[in-house]
Amino acid sequence: MFCLKISVFFLLLTRLIFQIESTSTDINGGEKQCYIQDTCEGCLGTNYNCAWCTDKMYEIFPRCLTRNELIQNNCSLENIWENKQEIDVISDEELQDFQNETNRAIQMKPQKIRLKLVKSQTQQLKLTYRPALNNPLDLYYLMDLTWTMRDDKKTLVKLGAKLSQALQNLTGNYRIGFGSFADKPIMPMIMPHAKENPCAAEGHTCEPTYSFRHHLPLTDDVDKFVKSVKKSRVTGNLDNLEGGLDALMQVIVCPDKIGWKEEARKIVVLATDGFMHFAGDGILAGINLQNDRKCHLDELGEYTESLVFDYPSLEETYRELGRRKISVIFAVTENVVQTYQQMSNLMDGISNVEKLSLDSSNILELIRTSYETFLKRVKFIDNSPTFIEIMYETNCGGQLENLKKRNYCTDLKMGKEVEFYINITLKDFPSDGNYKRTIRIEDPGLSEHLQLEIEIQKPCPCDEEEVDSELERQLCTENGVFHCGKCKCNEGWGGALCNCDLSTTNSTVSIEDECRQPFKNPVQLGRICSERGECDCGKCYCFPGYTGNYCECLECLNCDPEIADCFCGKCVCKYGWSGNRCNCKAEVDDKCKTPTGEICSERGECQCGKCLCKDPFVGTFCEIGWENENKLCQYYEPCVKCIILQKLGTYVCENVTDICSNSDKQQFQYSLVTELNDDVARCVIRLINNDDVKCDHIFSYYRPDSSNNYLTIQVNDCTPVNPLVMGGFISLFTFLLGLIVLIIYICCMRAADAREYAKFLEERTHSTLLESPLYENPIREYLVPQLEEDDMTI
Ligand SMILES: *[C@@H]1O[C@H](CO)[C@@H](O)[C@H](O)[C@H]1NC(C)=O
Ligand SMILES: *[C@@H]1O[C@H](CO)[C@@H](O)[C@H](O)[C@H]1NC(C)=O
Ligand SMILES: *[C@@H]1O[C@H](CO)[C@@H](O)[C@H](O)[C@H]1NC(C)=O
Ligand SMILES: *[C@@H]1O[C@H](CO)[C@@H](O)[C@H](O)[C@H]1NC(C)=O
Ligand SMILES: *[C@@H]1O[C@H](CO)[C@@H](O)[C@H](O)[C@H]1NC(C)=O
Repeated sequence: MFCLKISVFFLLLTRLIFQIESTSTDINGGEKQCYIQDTCEGCLGTNYNCAWCTDKMYEIFPRCLTRNELIQNNCSLENIWENKQEIDVISDEELQDFQNETNRAIQMKPQKIRLKLVKSQTQQLKLTYRPALNNPLDLYYLMDLTWTMRDDKKTLVKLGAKLSQALQNLTGNYRIGFGSFADKPIMPMIMPHAKENPCAAEGHTCEPTYSFRHHLPLTDDVDKFVKSVKKSRVTGNLDNLEGGLDALMQVIVCPDKIGWKEEARKIVVLATDGFMHFAGDGILAGINLQNDRKCHLDELGEYTESLVFDYPSLEETYRELGRRKISVIFAVTENVVQTYQQMSNLMDGISNVEKLSLDSSNILELIRTSYETFLKRVKFIDNSPTFIEIMYETNCGGQLENLKKRNYCTDLKMGKEVEFYINITLKDFPSDGNYKRTIRIEDPGLSEHLQLEIEIQKPCPCDEEEVDSELERQLCTENGVFHCGKCKCNEGWGGALCNCDLSTTNSTVSIEDECRQPFKNPVQLGRICSERGECDCGKCYCFPGYTGNYCECLECLNCDPEIADCFCGKCVCKYGWSGNRCNCKAEVDDKCKTPTGEICSERGECQCGKCLCKDPFVGTFCEIGWENENKLCQYYEPCVKCIILQKLGTYVCENVTDICSNSDKQQFQYSLVTELNDDVARCVIRLINNDDVKCDHIFSYYRPDSSNNYLTIQVNDCTPVNPLVMGGFISLFTFLLGLIVLIIYICCMRAADAREYAKFLEERTHSTLLESPLYENPIREYLVPQLEEDDMTI
């Protein structure tokens, strides 16, 4: 047991080292999370590059790593299991036109591939197609020989020589056959009295009604064909619906009688001017047996069971055509073209509708165009099961600019190669346990196909290893057997080494699941030990740095065990301690409490009795916000209001203590002052006083601890002045003002007068007594100016 513990410990240590190393590969390569996987299946399913080691000697490292890492860790090569997809081309014959020696053409390449598929991985392969020249053609002419088609028969006979030429033009390897049909010879398809000569109404004699008659097996002799047509006889039926499907089915399912050649392009030309009976119409004549899709032609080529089996359904016909690779050209007259077009759309890829002129004169042209349409189109389909996805991409030999997701091409050039890129993806594992599949990729009209031999890699390939040796039991504590890199425990034992006695637990889940953290949704379980530890008998042993029952918690780095407990990565303060680091005495927290009990007004953190406010809040309790919004002002307002009103004598508060103390047993003391200090935070409270005047009062608060509140209130006196007194004062003031103005005026006048008088006196002393200031002396003196010397000489 001791040894076991040591090995578990060792395991933990190496895993841890590995975890650290692996993070670097996570970034570079896609080897993400290989090492977490602890089952072979989970390992190989995680990533293509994850590999699983089943080496018994390999102990201390994770078993799921990349191949190279496993080798480095000494896992022996033969014990490494890895994802391995393979592609092996088994048959890849060159494309070739039809050759008489080998009697075949090769139009598809490659022909056979062996694949190994890994889940969620895609394999890509290339398929080349080339329509071969001179490919053999088997053409069976199936003709409606009711009365209205009699001229068509004549046309066909007339065309004789040209027909041979036209077919020769298509391919040197043609064969042609002939058959005719009318309808089931029974009421209501015919009238019973006209059974022997259905053409009596037209005044003619013709063949009794028959369902299908095979006249001529496929032959390369056109003369025989013409003769056969000539010899065939017109018949008739009643309604405009014929038994074409009965006939077509016989042509398809009687390859020996008709003479179909495996390697030829097989085409039935069904010429008619009427509609067709479908499955269920037989009931009209009391025929209710489903068509058995078997050949019922007698030696004369007559369909013998037409009155036993119902008409085949379109779907049955389509399936048989596909299985036997036979294509159909519906050569029909204009009046029914639309109906056949709809039928043909349902029989996609193997049918074509062409318009037949009333007397079949365009039959050669029609065969040629149809044949070329068949030849020049290719459409690959496959029979892959739902869990294998096959996608096709092609540019149709350059017809499209880029590769497009499509499985068909039309209008190909003869002899030119077309490439299809095919992606094969394994989406899931087969549910039936069959890991080997064969898939065919083919064109419905071609006799060739590409065969895929698929081997699907099992979820855990090493499951097939045989075990039962003593060593393998020893590795699992004798309580199980070591298989595929893991212990498979006997009943009653569990754990990685089968060392856990399950009888000691009564858990309903597996012992490993005990190491998984349950989530809210009980069905959902976490990773084993949250991927941070090792599970041993239902108990997690966490890697260093992690704790918790499921290693879901980080270890606390800075919890002082004296003052805090670690709780899932978080320090939780012990009683009496607080703060982020639990280093504050709990009681100092009270200093951060507002009277309502909020810590820092819930706008900051209390750090050992001091509020650290979040932006933009300020104040001792972070109570001040934008635009001086102040939570505490609001809080104290009712109390202060009560005190002021009481002071003013406006109103007597019932019980001031009651209102101020509120519910929190707060202590309130207040003082009234005339002038509040400038430097304290102020609250303004606006009240309407006795004189109906709004009056602002100011107060401040101080809160030294969690229960004491000191309010300082400055009550303002906003009493208005008496109007009478005011009026008197104003009158008196005006009077005095007038008086002063008057006195100043008088003084000024007097001063001016005095000045004038003094001037007069002075002037009087300067002048002669009688001389009036207005008097002027009448005598004037004039001096004649003297001439100068120079002037005289002139
Ligand atoms: C692998 O085996 C070799 C030779 O025995 C040894 O030197 C080496 O240390 C082993 N490596 C590890 C990772 O155990
Ligand atoms: C066959 O081909 C030759 C030459 O290409 C042409 O002249 C002739 O008309 C064709 N015959 C028929 C019946 O299409
Ligand atoms: C096939 O796989 C290739 C490469 O993964 C991809 O580029 C291409 O688009 C795939 N083609 C189809 C048809 O899904
Ligand atoms: C079984 O379950 C019960 C109730 O959940 C628990 O008390 C008891 O210890 C379990 N017994 C064992 C052996 O774990
Ligand atoms: C005022 O209320 C307090 C507390 O409710 C109470 O103790 C006190 O007696 C009351 N005083 C008056 C005058 O009602």
